Amino acid sequence: MAGWNNNQLRKYNIKFEKIPVLQHDDPKVNSLLCNNKPVLIKGSKLVSSVLNWDLDYLQKHMSSVCCNVMVSTNHKFKYYDQKKITPSITFKPQSRPSSMTFSEFAERMKTWKKGAPRLYLQQTLNNSIGHHVVRDFVMFNWDWVMSKQKICKWGALTSNLLLISQEGNITPCHYDEQQNMFAVVKGYKRFILFPPSQFECLYPHPVHHPYDRQSQVDFDNPNYTMFPKFKDACGYEAVVGPEDVLYIPIYWFHHVESLMSGGYTVSINFWFKAGPIEKIEYPLQDYQKMAIMRNVEKMLGEALHDPNDVGSMLRTIVVGRYTSEEL
Ligand code: FUM
Ligand code: FE
Repeated sequence: MAGWNNNQLRKYNIKFEKIPVLQHDDPKVNSLLCNNKPVLIKGSKLVSSVLNWDLDYLQKHMSSVCCNVMVSTNHKFKYYDQKKITPSITFKPQSRPSSMTFSEFAERMKTWKKGAPRLYLQQTLNNSIGHHVVRDFVMFNWDWVMSKQKICKWGALTSNLLLISQEGNITPCHYDEQQNMFAVVKGYKRFILFPPSQFECLYPHPVHHPYDRQSQVDFDNPNYTMFPKFKDACGYEAVVGPEDVLYIPIYWFHHVESLMSGGYTVSINFWFKAGPIEKIEYPLQDYQKMAIMRNVEKMLGEALHDPNDVGSMLRTIVVGRYTSEEL
């Protein structure tokens, strides 16, 4: 029986289909992974060695480790790039990074009361996490995940992020420039994914904005006047539980929520660089077009010395020239 129910899911006015669920040894897994298609993988044992990673265990072994904790005034934790905050924009994020020891985080989680700021630990697993936890980390099923890297010709593993979330927290819709094998250790997370082909329905912020890569659409309260094509968005959904691994393909948009289940979630992601391009084939894939669009925006921003001028130049190039019916 599933350890969750529909009442624990937030409600959105979005259409979605299900992400395929396959056993780790099903040959279709590799074909989905290698074709940048999401899949929920059962039985890989990627993080089976750390199913004991809960607040008490980690508090015991990581108590004085300094951790990155996002603190939010609401349930949304919209990531932003500090380096892109400039004096020319007014930017008031609702969630902010804060450093605290693991012990402090665990105590705040255990004594949290409704209405207090929400917490979401997002800590890179590196050798600062203490030898006991490093010993556990070494026991991940590395053979399995590295065999996928090899088969799909992904680039290097860049990092593992340990995520500990309060129930109901949300990571709003965004895309990453890396391949992600996402493993859940404790609790349930719901993912809604959108392929790169739906770029126009999701309206990501401009590249120079601190919210680069994040959709501008608030799923709780979509502004259809500003973002009319969001009505056409059609996602792929999965609820991911302990020992499951969800493959989130590079450049796929994803919204993530920890179910409103009364408990917290623990998960770990495995980020891999994109593989080297051996031969460019046409027509280009949608995610390759997204990479080109990013580069065009970046180049214009640099050439003009002011990101605020990028939009008007793009409009000048396009409107009335590439927008007429005959074209
Ligand atoms: O909240 C999350 O688990 C987000 C994960 C991701 O964006 O990769
Ligand atoms: Fe992400």
